[in-house]
Amino acid sequence: MFKKTTHTKLIVIASLLPIISFGTVGVISYYEINSFIDDENWVRHTHQVIEQSDAIEKTMLDIETGSRGYAITGNPISLAPYTSGISQITSQLDSIRTLTTDNPIQQANIQKLIPLVEEKISFSNKTIALQNNTGKDAGVQNVATLEGTRLMDNIRQVIGDMKNEENTLLEQRASVSQASAQNTSNTIIAGTAIAILITMISTIAIYKKMQQRDQIEKVNIELHFETEKLKERDNAKAELSAMVSHELKTPLVTISGYAEMLKDEAVLGALNKEQIHAVDTISSQTVKLERLISDIMDAQKMDLKKMKFNKRDFAIDDLMDEQIQIHSKLMDEKKVRFTNSTKEKLKIKSDPDRLNQVFANLIKNAVDFVPPSGGTIEINAARKNGDVVFYVKDNGNGIPQEKQDGLFKKFYQIDTSLKRSHGGTGLGLVICKGIVEALGGTIWLESQVGKGTTFWFRIPNNGSANHDLTEV
Ligand SMILES: Nc1ncnc2c1ncn2[C@@H]1O[C@H](COP(=O)(O)OP(=O)(O)OP(=O)(O)O)[C@@H](O)[C@H]1O
Ligand SMILES: [Mg+2]
Repeated sequence: MFKKTTHTKLIVIASLLPIISFGTVGVISYYEINSFIDDENWVRHTHQVIEQSDAIEKTMLDIETGSRGYAITGNPISLAPYTSGISQITSQLDSIRTLTTDNPIQQANIQKLIPLVEEKISFSNKTIALQNNTGKDAGVQNVATLEGTRLMDNIRQVIGDMKNEENTLLEQRASVSQASAQNTSNTIIAGTAIAILITMISTIAIYKKMQQRDQIEKVNIELHFETEKLKERDNAKAELSAMVSHELKTPLVTISGYAEMLKDEAVLGALNKEQIHAVDTISSQTVKLERLISDIMDAQKMDLKKMKFNKRDFAIDDLMDEQIQIHSKLMDEKKVRFTNSTKEKLKIKSDPDRLNQVFANLIKNAVDFVPPSGGTIEINAARKNGDVVFYVKDNGNGIPQEKQDGLFKKFYQIDTSLKRSHGGTGLGLVICKGIVEALGGTIWLESQVGKGTTFWFRIPNNGSANHDLTEV
């Protein structure tokens, strides 16, 4: 799960990186281009001011040419340049004033230029008026004073200053604009190159991660199929052996039935001593076989999770007393001192029949391993943190530490000289563990070679209305 999330995160990051890098290049380029356009606008503006200055100079020359021509010829046609110049000059001056509002030097130049222009116009007007009123000579004489030429020179001088100022600005602005153009193209080239590189790296990373993911998914699918197959096979096997075990039990009922009948003189007649012994052997072996088949069936049921439990409220001390009653005959035969040291009176909700089964297995084991004389087995139940902890303690030969791990595995038996006398198939503890765990508990042991073994199992108070143990 964790791996999958990390994978997805990496892929998302790798996909976002190119978008982020191209986006960054785009934003930087946008600002660079805007500043470049600004610089270019300034350059164009400077050109406009220069053009407007030239236009004013030309208009003033037209005014001069028109008035001079009229003074010499007296022909109103010669006045045409003058008339057109007069009609344009005011708007031209207004326009240049507006264009240079931000430049105090140019505003000062315009302040110098306007009186000169006015003076020049009034001089031209005077020439025209002299021609009109006094005659051609008077007009020509006025021109000959060279006052008009002087005024025109002054105007040219101021316009020249204005153009110089603009040219200086033009140079500055052109170089700024060029630098900005260079910056823009550098940013775009470098940014795009970096973004392409990031995209390539991201693509490779995504590709690799995808491949890994595909691989993992493939393996997962294969594993899933394998697990399913194994489960099916396991279930089929378990079901078959459960069926076989069940079928084996049926003839045993008949065998033990007939064996009992044989022993009954009234039914099939009296048997001699040897015959009775043979029938007894058949009976006891049948019981053993029945027990073995039951154990195998229980183990199978546990594997298939089909073991049935019947939970109900019961008194723990009753269950413990029952153990003494059930096993007293066996204990007497084997001369074992069998005691119940339970002190508390507790009530619990669990399955007493299955707990009996656990006790039976543990007690039978203990009986087989205690010494032939002086054997003791103690059973106990006590409350611990809301659960009941039981134990079966013997003073048998004990189980070496290194052998303890395998004890709860199927068909596991410790290889000792006692093995033969003990018999068994190695299913008892497996069944105990299965029952205890199915009831929500745990089982464990403490054992010392030569001193004895204690099997513990903890059972929770499962399923009662009040989870706490009830004292009775
Ligand atoms: N109280 C004990 N003291 C010493 N060894 C024990 C004790 N209980 C169990 N063992 C060892 O653990 C092994 C496994 O016990 P388990 O009850 O699972 O199988 P079993 O008794 O051999 O066969 P089954 O119980 O199926 O008839 C036993 O064979 C025995 O070697
Ligand atoms: Mg056993």
